[in-house]
This record gives sequence, C-alpha cells and structure tokens, in this order.
Amino acid sequence: MNIDELKSVASAIVAGQKGILAADESGPTIKKRFDVIKLECSEENRRRYREILFSTEGVEPYLGGVILYDETLRQSATDGTPFAELLARRGIIPGIKVDSGAKPLALHAGEKITEGLDGLRERLLEYQQLGARFAKWRGVIEISEQGIPTSSAIQANAHALARYAALCQEVGIVPIVEPEVLMDGSHDIARCEAVTSKVLEIVFAELDNQRVVFEGMLLKPNMVIAGMKCPQQAGVQQVAEATMRCLTRYVPATVPGIVFLSGGQSAQDATAHLDAMNKLGAHPWPVSFSYGRALQAPVLTTWKGQEQNVAEAQKIFFHRCRLNGLAHAGQYDSAMENASA
Ligand code: 13P
Repeated sequence: MNIDELKSVASAIVAGQKGILAADESGPTIKKRFDVIKLECSEENRRRYREILFSTEGVEPYLGGVILYDETLRQSATDGTPFAELLARRGIIPGIKVDSGAKPLALHAGEKITEGLDGLRERLLEYQQLGARFAKWRGVIEISEQGIPTSSAIQANAHALARYAALCQEVGIVPIVEPEVLMDGSHDIARCEAVTSKVLEIVFAELDNQRVVFEGMLLKPNMVIAGMKCPQQAGVQQVAEATMRCLTRYVPATVPGIVFLSGGQSAQDATAHLDAMNKLGAHPWPVSFSYGRALQAPVLTTWKGQEQNVAEAQKIFFHRCRLNGLAHAGQYDSAMENASA
C-alpha cells in the first residue's frame, strides 16, 4: 500500500471547491429515477443520461470525482471514449460503487447488512484496470421506535465497511466509507445525533481494528437532521451545528475529507446545509459533498429523456455543481438559486 498515493488522490477529490457527483445508481435505482420522468430504463437511455452529466462543460472546478456503477464504468461516450477516460482527461477522478446492496440482516427484523465482500479483491483489481481510483460502499442504518438500530446491526455494518476499506487500501484504491443513518422516519434531530455519534464511534473503531489508514480514505456521512416525518424540522443553522459537533467528536482529524450524502433532502436544502457548516469556520477536514439526488433530480426533470432538453439540463447541472462548490467554500447565498447559470 502506498499511503502517499492514497492520500494525494483523496485530497485531490476535495481540493478547492471540489466535491463528488454520485452517479452510481444500480439498475433498480436508476429505473426508479427514470420512472419519475416516465422514461424507459434501457441500456442506451442510461448511457445517454450519464453522458449528458459527464460531458457538461465547466464543471471541472466543482467536481473532483464521479462515482460510477459497474455498467457505467464499462460504457463509452457517443464518440467511443470510455467514460472513465473522458472524466480523467477533464481532471475528474473516476470511482466505482463496489457493494452489492443492503439485504435483510438475519435475526434482526427491520435492519439491513450490506453485501459484496466475497470476491471483492479480484473485482477491485479489475476496476482499477478500468480506471477507477476510488470506491464506495454504503452501509444503511435505520432509526425506528422499536429499539432500532440495535448495536449488533451497527457493529455488523461497521465491520463490513472496515473489511471493504482494508481491501481497497491493499490494492491502492481510496475507500469512501459511507455509513448512512437514514432520514426516513419520525425521529427528531437529537435522536439522529445520538445514533450518528454511536455509528461513527463504532465505524472508526472497526476501521482502526482492520488497520485501515485514516489518511487514505474519505468519510461519506449523513447530516444530523430530523426524520422526514418528524413534526419538528430543524433549521439550517441547527443542522449545521449538530452535524459539526457530532463529526468533530467522532471523526479523526487525519481523515482527508468529509463528503456528505444528500439522503433525500431537496437540492436547495443540501446546498444550504453544506454552506452553513462551512460558514461555521475552519474544521479539521475539508467539508464537501458527494450528492446523488441533490445534484441530479433537477437535471432529470429538465431532460425528461428528450434531446431538445439536453442543453437546458446541462445548464442546470452546471448551476447545481457551482452552487455546491460555493457551499464547500462557505460562499453560497440562497439568492443565487435564481441567478442564471
Ligand atoms: P444521495 O445524495 O441521493 O443520498 O446519494 C448519495 C449516495 O451515493 C448514496 O449512496
């Protein structure tokens, strides 16, 4: 393992105003997204959609990396350039989702465990050949009133994340460690903070136990936020303060960057929260984004699968990338939402 190399890739992804576009929706997930715009989920539509994102002009200052799905890493632009090469030529680092999804955890009704460790070493080597320099694995933690999450489910997910991260570092790929505490449910922000704290504490203990080098990874956490069905929704400032309090307590300062998931927040909320965190002042690590829905939802609803909408969809994608880049720098203002891209 070359720590300096891992460190330099991880730092490059979050340098300046940069963050990550998560475009790694699995087959069933991208189908759900296309269903919203009533578009057939064919391989060509998936390829064309990703091409629209990856070829948008001007996003280089705001995107340090893009997370791809297995199929996408093997696809090419219309001119035949493989997507990984197209991105790398633009200075955007290609990454790959390597987990195979969250399945029910045995004897733990309502809780999940992420699968995909078997054969992972070999898959990582192939992905590396195809141009991937970082990877992503998502563990899912749900909050509900029936004593969920259990500590055994948190432990199992943390262990899988640590095993995955160790395999990545062994082959020279930067692991993005994503323990996602879901925002589904009616819990308040205090419960989310308590659960996120416990999860991060256990995840870092497991990472350390598996000898993962913190300098050579990125953390992709949820923000500390009330559940979507909670009647008391927290304000932007409260979310920013609770999230930073929690991360400062549990995330080692040697981690080269934090890249938040959006988790179902609106595009504007995800940007406003990130900005508020960066306005709080200097943190031990760069605080940036790795958004899926918050970067893509407005693009999809503009594109609608129609060629005549491509230019407008790309304009909107550029605008969201730029606003999140500004939020990474703590320089966003909601008035910019309506400014032309
Ligand atoms: P969202 O930003 O839509 O939560 O997606 C990020 C991601 O990569 C989830 O694994």
